[in-house]
Amino acid sequence: MTLLNTTKAAKPTSDTKSDALLTASKLTKTVQVGEQTLSIIKDVDIYVNAGEFVVIMGKSGSGKSTLLGLLAALDYPDSGSVELAGQTLSSLDEDALAVIRQRDMGFVFQSFHLLPTLTVAENIAFPLDIARRPNKERVTELIDAVDLGHRRDSLPNQLSGGEQQRTAVARALVSHPKIVFADEPTGNLDEQNANQVMQLLLDLRQQVGSALVVVTHDPALAEMADRVITMHDGRVVS
Ligand SMILES: Nc1ncnc2c1ncn2[C@@H]1O[C@H](COP(=O)(O)OP(=O)(O)OP(=O)(O)O)[C@@H](O)[C@H]1O
Ligand SMILES: [Mg+2]
Repeated sequence: MTLLNTTKAAKPTSDTKSDALLTASKLTKTVQVGEQTLSIIKDVDIYVNAGEFVVIMGKSGSGKSTLLGLLAALDYPDSGSVELAGQTLSSLDEDALAVIRQRDMGFVFQSFHLLPTLTVAENIAFPLDIARRPNKERVTELIDAVDLGHRRDSLPNQLSGGEQQRTAVARALVSHPKIVFADEPTGNLDEQNANQVMQLLLDLRQQVGSALVVVTHDPALAEMADRVITMHDGRVVS
């Protein structure tokens, strides 16, 4: 929490971009649709400071999910670069990126993306297990934090949407990532579940000290963010 306060206090005094956790420079992305080359990300510069909560908003089709995929190195840009903690991601191969995703990043998707054959506990443990750092106490701590103790041995298809997303939130934060990316994490939930999931995501992120980048259409969430980035037609407009 000290970390967060420090980050917040330091923000207005200077351009903190130079020591940002994540820096994206001049990102572009095109897709080929038949004969046409469509430009879907156009010359985007973005930074995210350590511990910062950034919301990305913008109309459907403005490029939010594409941008998030580029920032999280789930997709390669056509040009431009993404740096995380001083390391240039766009120049790394798939194996090196996989290590960084495991070690430094957490993900929450609109459609949960839990592994269907693993239980709640196993899904949450997954990032620790594949990094060969199993930690039962940490997993139990997270299960309790998202209030799923009674569901620890359930499979995803035995859970409600809210329970699935709470599992995904716990999984995203279990390994103390530097940064968590979430693409419309509450998009498939009713209002009550959406509020609960978002609150858990914010609470856990504060405990861990992770930066959080959330794509959302929810103005209430934008209110809570340290900074809101608005996209329009593949560009950052504010
Ligand atoms: N693989 C692809 N092939 C063709 N067009 C694509 C592809 N991926 C994205 N696009 C187009 O790029 C634009 C940006 O898509 P993106 O999914 O990033 O938008 P978004 O802002 O996340 O929208 P939404 O709010 O609906 O999720 C859209 O016009 C989309 O149709
Ligand atoms: Mg999207």
